Parts: sequence; structure tokens; C-alpha cells
Amino acid sequence: MKNWIAAIVTGLVALPGLALGAGGEADLMHMEVDYSDEALRDGAETFIDNCMGCHSAEFFRLKNLEEDLGMAKEEVEDELMYGLASVNDHLESAMTEDQGDRWFGASAPDLSLTSRVRGEDWIYTYLLRFHSDEDAANGWNNHVFPEVSMPNVLYSMTEEAPEYYDAMPQPHHDGEEGDLEYPEVPEKLDQKVQNLVSFMSYVGDPSVKARHSMGPWVLLFLVILGLVTYLVKKEYWRDIH
Ligand code: HEC
Repeated sequence: MKNWIAAIVTGLVALPGLALGAGGEADLMHMEVDYSDEALRDGAETFIDNCMGCHSAEFFRLKNLEEDLGMAKEEVEDELMYGLASVNDHLESAMTEDQGDRWFGASAPDLSLTSRVRGEDWIYTYLLRFHSDEDAANGWNNHVFPEVSMPNVLYSMTEEAPEYYDAMPQPHHDGEEGDLEYPEVPEKLDQKVQNLVSFMSYVGDPSVKARHSMGPWVLLFLVILGLVTYLVKKEYWRDIH
């Protein structure tokens, strides 16, 4: 019996390590996810403009933006609805899996749940660690995802982006050691990517916004309930003392 318990405990302790191992790279940059309406709107725009050419987010509909971010229907239709027939459509890319395979050597995966599977920090670091590679078909490679077949679509995302990506170091060749010196992420590019990843985080868990806005009310309710309970207790004990 004891052996069983020990085995289960060891398994539970080892799990996070295994999960990390599956994610690869340990040296990820960290970002705080921002679920504010402003950040999510900006992220949605970046996603639809720059990513949906190849990727879908099939579990997500533009209608969610209306409901969760308080955007007017006209606003969503005017600003975000390129190529989609209706706000009820799921975010589906025009590129098929087959085309992806032929054009890039790999199909661009659906990104609905990537924030859950990879984690926000992984996506954030991945997007900011593209480096040039003469041997790659599209000229790009990635420190977090070596041999990736996605081109660096963030290269001209902001004015400072080209200089940033041009300064990205090459990975070590065999035998070389020591930490790579990554350039500092310029502010505007950083903000764009953080908003984009925040949007992807929300797409992976759309109820998160409702939960966040409900949090303070739940706490207030608990405080009031605590106060009432305390007063009731005092009232009872007065007779006993
Ligand atoms: C030109 C097509 C193209 C565009 C545009 C594009 N991607 Fe990709 N992306 C790909 C392909 C192809 C892969 C698969 C790479 C592989 O497996 O080698 C990929 C992989 C990824 C992955 C890794 C997914 C995983 O879990 O393995 C993420 C994250 C990602 N893309 C995010 C983005 C974001 C965010 C944007 C918009 C800023 C974007 N992509 C724009 C083609 C594209």
C-alpha cells in the first residue's frame, strides 16, 4: 500500500518536469497577460491582419468580441471582419492544410488552444526570437522552435522591428557554449506582441474575462457574509456568557 502511495506522489512531483521537458527551451521571457478591452482589441486586430492568412482559430467567433469587449456590431464589422461573411463565423483561415504543406512544408496549426498547450510565455518568446537563416527556405529560423517553417511575419510589425530582428544572434554551432546575447525588445514591438499573446490567451479560454470581472464581487460578497456571520455569532454568545 505504502509503495502505491509513494509511486503516486513521485508521479505527481515528476509531472511538471515532464511538461516542461515537452515544451523545450527553459529560458523563456515572461509577460503579464492583459485582459483589458484595449489590449484584447489591439491583439484581435493584429491577429486578424497578420496571422489569419495562414492560421485559423476555429473555436472563436467575432461575435465573442461584441459580447466580451463591448464592441458595437458595426465596429466589429468595419474593423475586423475581413473576408468573413458574418460575425458568427469562426476565425477560419483561407489557407487549407494542403496548401500549407505545399507552401511551407508544414501546415499552420489552428491557434485556438495554443495558449493552453504551449503557455503564454512560450508564444511570447517564440514570436520575439526569430533569427535569419540562409539555409531556410523562407530565410528565417527560430531560437524557441528550431527549423520552424513559419516566416517571420513580425519583421515589419513596428518601425523598430527590423533593426531588432536583424540584431538577433545566431544559435551556437556544435561545440560553442555560453549564453546568447539577445537584443532588448523595443517598446512598441513588445506592446504589440504582448497584446497579441493576451488575445490568444483569451481565445484559449474566453470565459476568463467574465471570471476576472466577477472576482471583486465574489470577494465583496464573502466580506459581507463574514461580517454578518460574525454579528450573528456575537448575538448568540451574548446570552450564553
Ligand atoms: C505565412 C503563413 C503564416 C503566417 C502569416 C503566420 N504563421 Fe504561424 N505558423 C505557420 C506555419 C507553417 C507553422 C508551423 C510551423 C512548423 O510546424 O514548422 C506556424 C506555427 C506557429 C506557431 C507554433 C504552433 C505550435 O504550437 O507548434 C505559433 C504560436 C504561431 N505560428 C503563431 C503565429 C502568429 C501569432 C502569427 C501572426 C502574427 C502567425 N503565426 C502568422 C505559418 C504562418
